[in-house]
Amino acid sequence: MTVAINARSLRNAFGQFATGVTVVTSRHGDKTRGMTANSFSSVSLDPPMLLVCIANTAHMMTLIEKSGVFALSVLESGQQSVSEYFAGSGNARHVAFAEFEGMPVIEGALALFNCRVEASYPAGDHTILVGEITACEHRSGAPLLFHSGAYADLRR
Ligand SMILES: Cc1cc2nc3c(=O)[nH]c(=O)nc-3n(C[C@H](O)[C@H](O)[C@H](O)COP(=O)(O)O)c2cc1C
Repeated sequence: MTVAINARSLRNAFGQFATGVTVVTSRHGDKTRGMTANSFSSVSLDPPMLLVCIANTAHMMTLIEKSGVFALSVLESGQQSVSEYFAGSGNARHVAFAEFEGMPVIEGALALFNCRVEASYPAGDHTILVGEITACEHRSGAPLLFHSGAYADLRR
């Protein structure tokens, strides 16, 4: 179906691409924040790199510009409420940060990546952040999924 390109039609079309869900975190001075993001992609194995796209208006963008570092936690299937909390849902229950190699991260995540900002590319209303991975760990488990504006998981 071909429709006019506008924010609604783009959201709907982008939403057909099923993704995992991550929380991007950063800290600068006494300020620590997290933001739900599904624009994560692996980029390079050697050197190790990943990318995530962050809205220019997001508080997280200002914080990462100041700190030059961020962490990314890949959420597990049972962590929908964590995703909702860090996407700004007023109803979600408060989530505390855990620590991984000096960075704030999400407890119980399937994978953790600490990154130093290697490059940032302005791209419309978002910025593409390329991070050089300075630490990472993972465990196996079922991921939280996002498709067509709704959460899903692979558990049967
Ligand atoms: C599943 C999901 C994925 C999201 N992915 C992104 C993303 O990749 N980049 C982004 O900038 N915002 C993304 N958002 C929106 C932000 O999480 C949301 O706007 C956040 O509240 C911004 O924080 P702020 O209002 O404190 O600046 C996503 C939201 C959800 C629910």
